[in-house]
Amino acid sequence: MSKQQAKILIFDSGVGGLSVYQEIQSKLPQLEYLYIFDNEAYPYGELDHDTLIDRVDRLVTSLVAKHHIDLVVIACNTASTIVLPTLRAKLTIPVVGVVPAIKPASNLANKAVGLIATPATVTRPYTHDLIRDFSQSKPVELLGSTRLVDIAEEKLRGKAVDLAELKQILATIENKVDVAVLGCTHFPLIKQEIQEVLTERVLLVDSGEAIARRVEDLLETTGEQEKRGKREIFSTAPPWEEGALNKALHQLGFSPVQHYPIAI
Ligand code: DGL
Repeated sequence: MSKQQAKILIFDSGVGGLSVYQEIQSKLPQLEYLYIFDNEAYPYGELDHDTLIDRVDRLVTSLVAKHHIDLVVIACNTASTIVLPTLRAKLTIPVVGVVPAIKPASNLANKAVGLIATPATVTRPYTHDLIRDFSQSKPVELLGSTRLVDIAEEKLRGKAVDLAELKQILATIENKVDVAVLGCTHFPLIKQEIQEVLTERVLLVDSGEAIARRVEDLLETTGEQEKRGKREIFSTAPPWEEGALNKALHQLGFSPVQHYPIAI
């Protein structure tokens, strides 16, 4: 698919997918971006399996039909570990998912790998298959936390991260691993703070850059890099601290959040 100004849809439960958006847009600023976050059902890490698949399916298919989307990025590990087969069966455009970077992390580790993700992602069969297939020789320590997701949401709205709290959350993996996977797209938003707590002895790995490369390959874009495409953002419910959120979104190039209720 070679296109001058392709339009891509990025999906997450909250602001986490913005970490993936930043990676993609730094390579492909000329694209048009439509970002949707399903905050009505946030946090996805605690949502039941069938509801999650149904919501992502309905939101993504309706937006693709309405906005003539060329490619979809499910910028959410929790959703990607279960929803990709359904979406790919329904859509004729490429659907790129984000799953925990277990394979590169295991290759980089000498001791053990930590997987920091949502409570759902650490229990998913998909994740356990990744571990079985790609980290046979290195043990993987699992840490599922919704509070970490909330911390990232708060930070984007301007709240400072409490490092003492972060240290408490990360305590179970702190001295056990030498590589940690940021297996939730919210976590690159607090990477600096996680690094500070785990110290430079732990290498942090996420999937953002690899996703951006995949998008670039699939689109084969030829557009002029100087031109910036339009960036729009939608939420399924009114976001909390909307003013602070819109301020951060403006810095990332977006116009204010628009409401996109899920069709019942
Ligand atoms: N950002 C999401 C992920 O990558 C999910 C966060 C949540 O809603 O629990 O898993």
